[in-house]
Amino acid sequence: MPSIEPPAPHRDESSPHVPTSGPGASPKQVNPMTQDRIYMDHVAAAPLLPEVLDAMMPYFREHFGNPSSMHGVGEKAEEALTQARRQVAELIHARSPGEIVFTSCGTESNNFALKGVALAYQNKGRHIVVSSVEHFSIMHAVKTLEKMGFQITHLPVDGTGRVDPDEVDRAITPQTILVSVMHGNNEVGTLQPIAEIGRITRAKGVLLHTDAVATAGVIPVDVEALQADLLSLSANAFYGPKGAAALYIRKGVRIHPLLDGGIQENGRRAGTENVPAIVGMGVAAEIALREMDNRIAWARKLQKRLQEGILERIPHVVLLGHPVDRLPQIVSVLVEYVEGESMLLFLDMENIQIASGSACISRSLKVSHVMLAMGIDAALAQGSLLFSLGKDNTEEQVDRVLEVLPPIVQRLRDMSPLYKKAARTFRSSADAGTAGPDPRRS
Ligand SMILES: Cc1ncc(COP(=O)(O)O)c(C=O)c1O
Repeated sequence: MPSIEPPAPHRDESSPHVPTSGPGASPKQVNPMTQDRIYMDHVAAAPLLPEVLDAMMPYFREHFGNPSSMHGVGEKAEEALTQARRQVAELIHARSPGEIVFTSCGTESNNFALKGVALAYQNKGRHIVVSSVEHFSIMHAVKTLEKMGFQITHLPVDGTGRVDPDEVDRAITPQTILVSVMHGNNEVGTLQPIAEIGRITRAKGVLLHTDAVATAGVIPVDVEALQADLLSLSANAFYGPKGAAALYIRKGVRIHPLLDGGIQENGRRAGTENVPAIVGMGVAAEIALREMDNRIAWARKLQKRLQEGILERIPHVVLLGHPVDRLPQIVSVLVEYVEGESMLLFLDMENIQIASGSACISRSLKVSHVMLAMGIDAALAQGSLLFSLGKDNTEEQVDRVLEVLPPIVQRLRDMSPLYKKAARTFRSSADAGTAGPDPRRS
């Protein structure tokens, strides 16, 4: 079997952390023993590829025109949009570049899909079906629609975070206009059976939207194979810039614009386009398509090493997400009897940057609705760690994490009264030769 090599590295032009040390170092300071930053939070933000930045720069400088202007400078910008639209269409196998509408972020694409379809089809019906593990940009958008008189059904998921397509089938009524189920989950990595759901929605004449912000540009996404009518994607997931995202809208699907204004994006999204960022999105999409197989193989290799290492070295850890149908770059675990935030702070002191659940709610310290929907006890969900690997992570970095994390967990557990109490149970179970309690569910 050929050995799996890391994808070609890109130049890291960011200034490295200057380590600071000393007794009582705050979590914001870093350990002087660790020279390099270990960044494993790519779902929250991936670094920009230098080639992408190079492609963007002329559109800040000489080609600064407005793509709607009827002169040479404007036309240059318009040509750049046309090219980027084609590159993004190719990434997701859209039949026509005209099916791509550029937006500012994944949140906007999701809001546009849900509210735009709801408003365009409200005379046909006012019922929408979503899964209970969607990103907040879907969950909160349907709350708004509910207040406007739409009826919303939230589909349950199993313990791995997956929706059962039969549940979709059962949820659809003659009033249903749209089903929205995400392609891949950003917290636990589980991939949804979108193609199966697409067969059902297509047969019943209901539109299907899928949030592919965590998957497009990372794993193959094909709107034809998925039978998706609308699909959200964002450049930053595949090393493109922030500020550029898109909504795929299948030809023939009606959508009500959310912004009133000009006729940009074929009358579907008013406002001058963010040309440099869109150019960057196009180039990043082209590179992602070209490098995808390598990136996936490398991510899987690191994923295996990391998750096996954690499970081997740290007792009372639960691996989250579907065992097989899961994003290759995500390792999501629950570390029992420890709070995720405490682990993050200690890891940050070692210059290791990861997440505990979704970046959107991390500062609110709220329990993840995704984990609650998966049936995980709220107290346990607090101990979540989310590693999202990138193409430039190395096996040495994974090994460094595996060296640093177990003593951090042990130190925090030693301070935890809950763990001390539980440890007594483990000891007495071991003495009695029985298994300890199953802590996963309350
Ligand atoms: C699955 C998913 N959907 C939507 C979003 C929102 O995207 P943005 O932060 O670009 O608005 C995210 C962000 O991480 C996401 O992971």
